[in-house]
Amino acid sequence: MKTLIKNGIVVTADDEFKADVLMDGEKISCIGKDIQVQADKVIDAEGKYVLPGGVDQHVHFSFTYKGSKVRGFETSHAAAVGGTTTVVEFVNQVQGKGLVESIEDYRKTDVDGIAMVDYAFHIIMTDPRDEVIEEMPKLVEAGYTTMKLFMAYKGMFFHAGDDAILKALMKGKEAGITIMVHAENAEMIDVLSKQLIAEGKTEPYYHAVSRPPVVEAEATRRAIYLAELAGAPLYVVHVSCKEAMEAIRDAYTAGQPIYGETCTHYLVLDTECLAKPDFEGAKYVCSPALRTEEHREALWEAINKNWLNAVSSDHCGFDWKEQKHMGRATSFADIPNGTPSFQNRLNVLWTYGVCEGKISRSKFVDLACTTPAKVVGLEGKGAITVGYDADVVIFDPEYRGIISVENNLEDVDYCPYEGFEQKGRAETVFLRGNLIVDNGKYVGQKGQGKFIHGKPFGVSYDTL
Ligand code: URP
Ligand code: ZN
Ligand code: ZN
Repeated sequence: MKTLIKNGIVVTADDEFKADVLMDGEKISCIGKDIQVQADKVIDAEGKYVLPGGVDQHVHFSFTYKGSKVRGFETSHAAAVGGTTTVVEFVNQVQGKGLVESIEDYRKTDVDGIAMVDYAFHIIMTDPRDEVIEEMPKLVEAGYTTMKLFMAYKGMFFHAGDDAILKALMKGKEAGITIMVHAENAEMIDVLSKQLIAEGKTEPYYHAVSRPPVVEAEATRRAIYLAELAGAPLYVVHVSCKEAMEAIRDAYTAGQPIYGETCTHYLVLDTECLAKPDFEGAKYVCSPALRTEEHREALWEAINKNWLNAVSSDHCGFDWKEQKHMGRATSFADIPNGTPSFQNRLNVLWTYGVCEGKISRSKFVDLACTTPAKVVGLEGKGAITVGYDADVVIFDPEYRGIISVENNLEDVDYCPYEGFEQKGRAETVFLRGNLIVDNGKYVGQKGQGKFIHGKPFGVSYDTL
């Protein structure tokens, strides 16, 4: 099947130009002016942008918090309608099980044959026994090239001590695995939370008070020191504040291979969301916490200047009514952490980044598609390039709408961007040459997504 997209403006991570794009089977086979070929289908993209399918390197379809579990891969078509064609899911190592085994057991029951976009995985190390550390190179053979450790969440089974992080950095470096950290100081949070709760300060807003920027900054600096000792690269996920960003920026500019991402919500939502009445603030309980204007401005600058190199969703689909309400009778500490929405990652980044003049279209592609693919080693993803997978979005910049849970496929009972203006949308989306979104509507099939085998020594190793 040959599909020819004519007259669109192709946007890459460092350029944009008017060109035709030919997709042949699952691949992009030609990019050029006025391509003359007998195609099965021709689409006129005059006035539209031709973008690579988005790569969301940070989603949760299996996260469980105090017994409550998020929506799974059966909602992954929401990514497609938002212009994302590849997602990377964090899988907990099951205690007592190996790393590869934990991912593969999860895949068999919850992912393969269900996913509607392409996918890869990060393992979360929860059980750092010596034999588990020794198993790390086996991850690479199986195509899993990134590992997350949680510095936050004291007392939870997935919390990792500095010893585990250091060992993972050392072993990971030998195999080309990129170590990622959730950088928040668990002890600080524990002390502050207990104090606040003892004072009767239990509402959702105090979630943010219990984890101020210094909590994130300390852990980020500590992780950077651990990486320095190991001589290894480090990737800091969901950076939310100026101080943590500056720690990454300073280490990177001093020559250390330290990288990080931020997330859509940290760029546009404010701490005050947590103060919404009638427990609505619980919708915005995520970790690290939402910050103020000063931090948002610092993050926009950082993504522009490459001090942070990707924008992910950190999608975590807990319902407000049934699940977030777990903390209503007790305290913020029992509210499952995390916010949706991976469907709106590109909508928000385009509307509030590109349309507000904060980032260029090429920067948008770099942050949302190209670099995330490189972080995880997903060759053939995240760019409009000959030989790459034909994951292509025809983006209509003239579309105008309002973001709402009403037109969301995530199956979560709220959207943190409810009522936000949306400028532009993914009008047509192809996944490896197959049409999966037509006129903004999902038209693909369950199980159409395919596992993408990651390659080791991702972009974080480039400057080692
Ligand atoms: O609050 C968050 N971010 N929930 C998802 C799990 C994580 O820490 O990434
Ligand atoms: Zn995290
Ligand atoms: Zn996360």
